[in-house]
Amino acid sequence: MCGIIAYTGKRQAAGILYDGLTRLEYRGYDSAGIAVVNGLRLDYVKRAGRVSAVADARALSGTCGVGHTRWATHGGAEDRNAHPHVCGKFAVVHNGIIENYAVLKRELTDMGHSFSSDTDSETVSHLLSSFYRGDFLSAVRQTVEQLRGSFALCVLCSDFPETIVCVRQKSPLILGRAKDGMLAASDIPALGGCREICVLSDGQIACLTPADCKLFSFSLAPLPCKFTASDLKSCVAEKKGFAHFMRKEISQEGAAVVRTARAFDEAEARRLFGCVPYAEAFSRIFLVGCGTAYHSALTGARLLEETLRIPVAAELASEFCCRKPLLGRHALVLAVSQSGETADTLAAARLAKQKGARLAVLTNAGYSSLARLSDHCFLTEAGVEVGVAATKTYAAQLAFFYALCAFLRGEKAAYLRRFPAIHKKLSEGEEQIRLLAAEIVRARGVYFIGRGADYASALEGSLKLREVSYLPGAGYAAGELKHGSIALMDGDAVVVAVATGKALKEKMRTSVCEVRSRGAKVIAVTPFDDIPADHVLALPACPQKYYPLLTQVPLQLLAYHAALCRGLDPDRPRNLAKSVTVE
Ligand code: M6R
Repeated sequence: MCGIIAYTGKRQAAGILYDGLTRLEYRGYDSAGIAVVNGLRLDYVKRAGRVSAVADARALSGTCGVGHTRWATHGGAEDRNAHPHVCGKFAVVHNGIIENYAVLKRELTDMGHSFSSDTDSETVSHLLSSFYRGDFLSAVRQTVEQLRGSFALCVLCSDFPETIVCVRQKSPLILGRAKDGMLAASDIPALGGCREICVLSDGQIACLTPADCKLFSFSLAPLPCKFTASDLKSCVAEKKGFAHFMRKEISQEGAAVVRTARAFDEAEARRLFGCVPYAEAFSRIFLVGCGTAYHSALTGARLLEETLRIPVAAELASEFCCRKPLLGRHALVLAVSQSGETADTLAAARLAKQKGARLAVLTNAGYSSLARLSDHCFLTEAGVEVGVAATKTYAAQLAFFYALCAFLRGEKAAYLRRFPAIHKKLSEGEEQIRLLAAEIVRARGVYFIGRGADYASALEGSLKLREVSYLPGAGYAAGELKHGSIALMDGDAVVVAVATGKALKEKMRTSVCEVRSRGAKVIAVTPFDDIPADHVLALPACPQKYYPLLTQVPLQLLAYHAALCRGLDPDRPRNLAKSVTVE
């Protein structure tokens, strides 16, 4: 999704902004731009395409500026829709959605403003211009009063050549203090080099000058501004000899799992569940998430329900708010999100709080909006994940659920310590996976099936393959095939059958026979040697409940190699963003 970077200080801004934009590239975007105040003039460059398309912006002169990577929502990926949006003395970069932009645009047009883009964001620069009477902050205050929706804004005004005004409402914005100036960014990695940070809260306005930051409410009441020390060096992402971040991050899963299990916060878990027996703390539990986080929630819900013997359901966050879930003070909502910024998950979390449920969050980003909203925050220790496809964060989320359930049973999840060695062994099968990937890319559709705990793995394997290789397909509960989707099976279909459940083996054998007899080729991912598949990706034997953790390794590698076979860059799948900050 869109990324923001802003700098005011002693150095030339454009190079710093360009560098910040390259650090935001992993979020997914389709255009980029930079504006600086040059004397009392605004200079800017913005174009559709990669950040490198605005490399010439590095020559812009001025020590105060803003930069942006845009992921198109309102208006296509065209130069004119890229940010910054400039109107009169103002340049604006915006993340989020201005929900009432159509009304505002109509009113502004009636007042004589003419617009040069199709975006919702451009209304902000026009509102600023229309309210401005020489007082920068007051124009921002009046503008913000008009806006509905979510917005992180960084604003330049050419009358104030050293000032950036930042606004946060339901879209993340973090301030950073560097040796030679102040920065603001939508995402921590862009603030590399800052020794202190301050995470803005919703409803706050920050006024940045080279050596100072003043904080205000939306009504301009002064607020205390507290920066905390932070070591952001570790956020600088490098491929470390791997061809892609995705492959590097798969290789880091062993360490991510061990770190997450080791860092499991027992004290927080005790605070959350409050009493022994823990099963009495809540009458029901909802795990909410999107995409891969939803798939880990499916596994987490199974494990938790087995452990606590109370109703535990995994829910798509985007659907959670579309019905009336049974929330209240006896309900726990555990929101799962690696980024902690996913708009759908945030909306579900807000609903939970509004209805009086307890809100816990599992995230890889301790500074994120979800972490700050939660009553109880648990962290995965996956480290920064740059690849758009979630890999090591998924493994870390699973590790958290194993650790949580072990804690609730009064045990330790000792098996997780063995995972790095098992991961290494699983990765030794990569050449076989590469050859299979070359085969499946010729299929018309690739379908993943599983029963029981393997159903979530099938959904995740399918999502991973679709998002990085664009191969059509889906994940199904194996037992559901015969209720409709078996119609898709023929000689052009490939089925990946995940079969790890001992008690479900015979049923999976039947499903495999059913699809093979209709001509589909079957790849089984299984520890068993009697699944009648065309190819077998063998899993080592392990305690039954840990198979989802093992299964995802060959499935992620299959997706990775399928992307390579199709000549695609798995780190930057088309149309996707690392953190989806719009609903
Ligand atoms: O940051 P989150 O975990 O909340 O993200 C949720 C999904 O957008 C995310 O898992 C997405 O499905 C990934 N690209 C999957 O690899």
